[in-house]
Amino acid sequence: MISVQPSGACMGAEVSGVDLSGPLSAETFGAIREALHRHHVIVLRGQSPSLEAERFIDFAGRFGRPEPHVLDQFHHPTHSDILILSNVKKNGKPIGLADGGTYWHSDYSYLDVPARATVLYSIQVPEVGGDTLFADQEQAYADLPEKMKQRLEGLVTLNLYGNRDDLDPESRTIAFPLTEDQKQKRSISVIRHPLVRRHPYTGRKALYAVSGTSFAIEGMSDDEGLALLRELADHSTQPKYQYRVSYGVGDVVAWDNASVLHSATLTDPKFARTLWRVTTKEAQRPAM
Ligand code: SIN
Repeated sequence: MISVQPSGACMGAEVSGVDLSGPLSAETFGAIREALHRHHVIVLRGQSPSLEAERFIDFAGRFGRPEPHVLDQFHHPTHSDILILSNVKKNGKPIGLADGGTYWHSDYSYLDVPARATVLYSIQVPEVGGDTLFADQEQAYADLPEKMKQRLEGLVTLNLYGNRDDLDPESRTIAFPLTEDQKQKRSISVIRHPLVRRHPYTGRKALYAVSGTSFAIEGMSDDEGLALLRELADHSTQPKYQYRVSYGVGDVVAWDNASVLHSATLTDPKFARTLWRVTTKEAQRPAM
């Protein structure tokens, strides 16, 4: 029997009674999706430590169409829908993307059709750290003063692949640089998104991608737009909006990119950390 245990923080829940190594009925998946929409981040602890790639992709793909990450050098060797997040090196060569997403962001907000759910499967857990942080953008929007809500109505952000607040190539919190080929493929154009958007399934309003890829607001000077985005990011990532996930081996976590910002935390390189990640897309580009 599936059961959903809210975290006690402003969002997040643990879902138990689900075994992802076998088939999932429509009813069970419906309950999981309902939990995601209600709690924004769900954690399915202690799945098989040797979950097959196909099973993991099948599960993630129930939320939306998986889209391989632009950083194709870190794809799973036989399943390109899986991005390997890892600080482990084999023969001096990284087996995955280290320090990926160590700043507040929403996945694929540099694409026209952004991410719906992102799903992680934890394979190697560091002795210390390795957590992921989430910030509730629905509650943060709901708590804004009415005057600010009116100011934000109809505003459109401009987005580019990267971390707008860190462009230092020596830093661990820069977004991993793209090759010329990867830039050509899909990620160099400026993408417009609504700053406040309605959730594609629940219709609830949330701040959208106010940190990470957004670098300006249409119709505002660069300074004014960025100042407003930073003010909103400071507001919406306050500890009272946060939920922290600490991993065990075999844990599966899914989050709803329309409702949360998230940030990986920096792991001490002496502790191995490896996860698989599948990112699924929304069905269409957000209404403007
Ligand atoms: C990400 O997908 O942004 C990375 C999350 C993590 O590694 O904790």
